[in-house]
Amino acid sequence: MKALVCEHYGKVDDLVYRDMPNPTAGSGQVLVNIEAIGVNFPDGLLVEGKYQAKPATPFMPGGEFAGTIAALGEGVKNFAVGDKVFGWHTSYGAYAEQVAVAEEDIFKMTPSMSFEQGAALLCATSTSHHALKQRGQLKPGETLVVLGAAGGAGLAAVQIGKAMGAKVIAVCSTDEKIAFAQSQGADEGINYTKEDLKSAIKERTDGRGADVVYDAVGGDAFDACSRSMAWNGRLLIVGFASGRIPTLPVNLTLVKGYSVVGVFWGTFTKKQPEDHAANMVELLQWFEAGKVVPVIDETFALSDGVKAIQYVTGRNVKGKVVIKP
Ligand SMILES: NC(=O)c1ccc[n+]([C@@H]2O[C@H](COP(=O)([O-])OP(=O)(O)OC[C@H]3O[C@@H](n4cnc5c(N)ncnc54)[C@H](OP(=O)(O)O)[C@@H]3O)[C@@H](O)[C@H]2O)c1
Repeated sequence: MKALVCEHYGKVDDLVYRDMPNPTAGSGQVLVNIEAIGVNFPDGLLVEGKYQAKPATPFMPGGEFAGTIAALGEGVKNFAVGDKVFGWHTSYGAYAEQVAVAEEDIFKMTPSMSFEQGAALLCATSTSHHALKQRGQLKPGETLVVLGAAGGAGLAAVQIGKAMGAKVIAVCSTDEKIAFAQSQGADEGINYTKEDLKSAIKERTDGRGADVVYDAVGGDAFDACSRSMAWNGRLLIVGFASGRIPTLPVNLTLVKGYSVVGVFWGTFTKKQPEDHAANMVELLQWFEAGKVVPVIDETFALSDGVKAIQYVTGRNVKGKVVIKP
C-alpha cells in the first residue's frame, strides 16, 4: 500500500510517500480501507520529534481516520466487513491506505456522516469534549473563552461550548477567523493581535473574568488568561501551538481562586474507557442534531500529505484539514 513515511525525525518536508507492507488484522483487530485521514497539529510535532511519543522509525504518522472494514481478526464481535467506521490508531500509522486497529478504537459512522467528517471527530473534537466536560466541568450560563478558536480543537470547543449552554468568546489572530468562529456559534470575538487580551476578557465579562478558558495555544495568550480568570474558574491546558510552554506564578491561582487543569485525551481514553464511550454517545447525538459538526476547510491527496500538515502548522486552518488516500 501507499503511505506517508517518517524515515527519520526532522522536518515535515522530509516525509516520503512510498510503498509500505499492507497490515493484517490480528486477534481482536479490524482491517480498514481508509477513505479519509484527519490532520492534527500534533502530527507535525510527532515527525519533528517534539511530541510526547517517539515511535521507532520508519513509521507513518497520523492518528484519526475513517473508512470501510475490509477484514476481521479473530474474535471481533461488534463489527462486520463493509461497516463504515471512524477511529483512532493508538500507535500512529493512519497516513496510509489501510490500518489494522483494535475494535475498541473504532466507532460506527452514523448514516448522515461523510468519511471526511468521521475522520475529524476524534482528536480535535473528542479532546474538546473531554476538556470541557470531565476537566472543565463547564455549566450552562458560564463564560467560556476559547483560544485558537478557528483551529481544529478550538472550533470544536466553540461548538461543544454552545451545545453545553455556555456563553462562548472566540479568541483568534484575524478578523476573518473570528467571523468564522462566530458563524459556528461563538457569541463574541477578540482579535488578540489588535486588542490586549487581558483587558478584552475583562471587558467582555463585565469585570468578572472567564469561568473556563480553553487554551490550546499557550505562550503570551496563556499569560494573559492566567490574569483573567473568574473566582472558581478553570484554566484548561490543552496545547502549546504558539511554540512556548508557559510558566505560571502560582500565587495568581491563590489570589483569584481558580484551578489550572491539564487535559490529555489519549490517556483519558485508556484510563477512563467508560467515560470515553459515554462521551462518544453524546458527541454522536450532537452530530446528528447538527450541533457539533466538523467543518472541513481543505482536502489534500495522501501524496501531498506534507502540504496538508504544513497548512495546519502554518496557522492557516479554519476547522479541519483532511487527507484522502
Ligand atoms: N491535550 C490533548 O489531548 C490534545 C489533543 C489534540 C490537540 N492538542 C493540542 O492542541 C493544539 C491545537 O491543535 P489543532 O490540531 O487544533 O491545531 P490547529 O487547528 O492548527 O489550531 C491551532 C491554533 O493555534 C493558534 N496559534 C497561535 N500561535 C500559533 C503558531 N505559532 N502556529 C500555529 N498556530 C498558532 C492558531 O490560531 P490563531 O491564528 O487564531 O492564533 C491556530 O488556529 C496543539 O498544540 C495540539 O498539540 C492537544
